[in-house]
Amino acid sequence: MVKLNENYQNVKDSYLFAEIARRVKVYEETHPEKAADIIRLGIGDVTLPLTKSVIEALHEAVDSQAVSETFKGYGPEQGYAFAQEAIADYYARNGVEVKATDIFISDGAKSDTGNITELFAKDNVVLVPDPVYPVYVDTNTMDGKNIIYMNGTKENDFLPMPDENVKADIIYLCSPNNPTGACYNKEQLEAWVAYALKNDAVILYDSAYEAFITDPTLPRSIYAIEGAKKCAIEFCSLSKTAGFTGTRFSYTVVPEELVFETSNGGTLSLHNMWNRRQCTKFNGTPYIIQYAGAKVFTEEGMKECQENIGYYRENARMIAETLEKKGISFTGGVNSPYIWFECPKGMESWEFFDYLLENAQVVGTPGAGFGENGKNYFRLTSFGKHEKTKEAMERFNSLF
Ligand code: MLT
Repeated sequence: MVKLNENYQNVKDSYLFAEIARRVKVYEETHPEKAADIIRLGIGDVTLPLTKSVIEALHEAVDSQAVSETFKGYGPEQGYAFAQEAIADYYARNGVEVKATDIFISDGAKSDTGNITELFAKDNVVLVPDPVYPVYVDTNTMDGKNIIYMNGTKENDFLPMPDENVKADIIYLCSPNNPTGACYNKEQLEAWVAYALKNDAVILYDSAYEAFITDPTLPRSIYAIEGAKKCAIEFCSLSKTAGFTGTRFSYTVVPEELVFETSNGGTLSLHNMWNRRQCTKFNGTPYIIQYAGAKVFTEEGMKECQENIGYYRENARMIAETLEKKGISFTGGVNSPYIWFECPKGMESWEFFDYLLENAQVVGTPGAGFGENGKNYFRLTSFGKHEKTKEAMERFNSLF
């Protein structure tokens, strides 16, 4: 008889954002007269179209696929060298040296942070912040791995720090953080790198929101920290930076320096393992997407993206202003597209979700979906359109 991966019994019935979509659908069906009024500030999905240089590059790449001389079939599983080099250049402009050949291009930080778990044995201790992006917890639960949590609370500004009494082998860090918007500074990341090096641990560093950092003193990559190449893998994506949520382009840096001992006295390289995994299970991000994605990393391409990010920042400012006016404490919104606040009236987050949907037709994300420490918190995204965000804040203002 077939034996199933019963670890799936240990994950919630549905993924957080699928559950939100389900509840919104139920509301639409039961309140058809209100359906058109719904404002979605839940999932972090962008609303501005792709930038001019990306669109031009997409057209160019499509046309080149129509001509035998320039047509491309399978590409390198790691990504085209032109795209790897464009990313390495971008790192260099931000003061961080990363080898182009250590960069693996993929179709999403979600897929890569999920798939990377395959490289690690089951008996590792996985340390995850709470609250946190649910993919880290769900994927390790599906693998049957041992997850322990570190608390992100108001008291530590949602930035848990290493504890010498806690032994972890794999550590997930996300900065700027999803969902809290909190950002580690250089000293804090140095402490994490020191902990990982001392404990032969690996940091899985999600920097998907690095382009939202405005404070120049905050690191935008874990590799801004000395020693990080010996202990950290970095995941990043163009979803939020360049509006690629529907276009799909991400990159994962697995430095060659990441070599660990094996139980039989040998060594294994995480870089070689990831390369082997990708060559076996992945045929690469489409050429057309890589061609357009590479344009994002040029100075002109990034300038256009920063204009869009500036637009979202204005939304974050509107949301923050409303919360301040109401005396509701919050984090994020400055170096991050997310605003994380305590649910008003002492409500729990799913209760607040329903309350806000029913009374203001505004959709947000309940903090409980990100972990136990989020159960009295709520997340709004700044990725909406100005008019919708403004309208949502007007409704919020009259409701409280
Ligand atoms: C979020 O809303 O947390 C993000 O959109 C999730 C993601 O990037 O997968």
